[in-house]
Amino acid sequence: AGRVRLHHLRQAKEQGRHFAMLTTYEQYTAEIFDAAGIEVLLIGDSASNNVYGNETSLPVTVDELLPLCRAVARSAHHALILADLPFGSYEVSPQQAVETGVRFMKEGLAHAVKLEGGAFYAETVRAMVQAGIPVMGHIGFTPQSEHALGGYRVQGRGDDAERLVADALALEEAGAFAVLMEMVPAETAARVDAALKVPTVGIGAGSGTTGQVLVWQDAMGLRGGKMARFVKQYAQLRGTLMDAAQQFGDEVRNGSFPGPEHSF
Ligand code: KIV
Ligand code: NA
Repeated sequence: AGRVRLHHLRQAKEQGRHFAMLTTYEQYTAEIFDAAGIEVLLIGDSASNNVYGNETSLPVTVDELLPLCRAVARSAHHALILADLPFGSYEVSPQQAVETGVRFMKEGLAHAVKLEGGAFYAETVRAMVQAGIPVMGHIGFTPQSEHALGGYRVQGRGDDAERLVADALALEEAGAFAVLMEMVPAETAARVDAALKVPTVGIGAGSGTTGQVLVWQDAMGLRGGKMARFVKQYAQLRGTLMDAAQQFGDEVRNGSFPGPEHSF
């Protein structure tokens, strides 16, 4: 199959199909998820807390994300390569956003970028799209605004649903090729999807969006600790790796590795 492009995602929505998106930050998961047919690979700013050891997505920088993005782009030959613009790299002005978007496409080899925010960023999105940078908007719970939002909480409940629809429509009108919703009531997300011509992507947003995304270390059980309600675990990699590392350590200490078959 050829490369997934923006019009394929649009077609999926028009034909009532769903598409899948996973985060990935390096070569092997990029190769595997690409070969598995995942349509969109996201180099998320969640690399901050899933690769770089930070507690939140706030500290990660453009210079830290670019090499990860390049590694994924070189390793995936089918998926659309989508990169997050990290906190502080696009808020100042449309010009700053265009400059950062260009870096992700030129140095990171990304095909499109994602930024957090709604109607307030319409002008920014328009400038980027005009510059040839495809943009996905991210609304609902936006992790980069965690402190402004008062913590990890569902967005778009009650009257807030209207604002969410308005934000999504403003992004579409500005030229965004898709809108991602995080931690939004399923009913609200479905309303947004119905209001838009462009596809939507959900995480903790129910089944009414065009696409679904998960952070791969959550979905494959690599990360320890408590998982959000919206995460489904499709593998238990942490336990698998723990067992393997313990076995290797034991065999080295008891002298059973390496055996003759591993020696010259
Ligand atoms: O950075 C990230 O992982 C995201 C999620 C929506 C998957 O933006
Ligand atoms: Na993100």
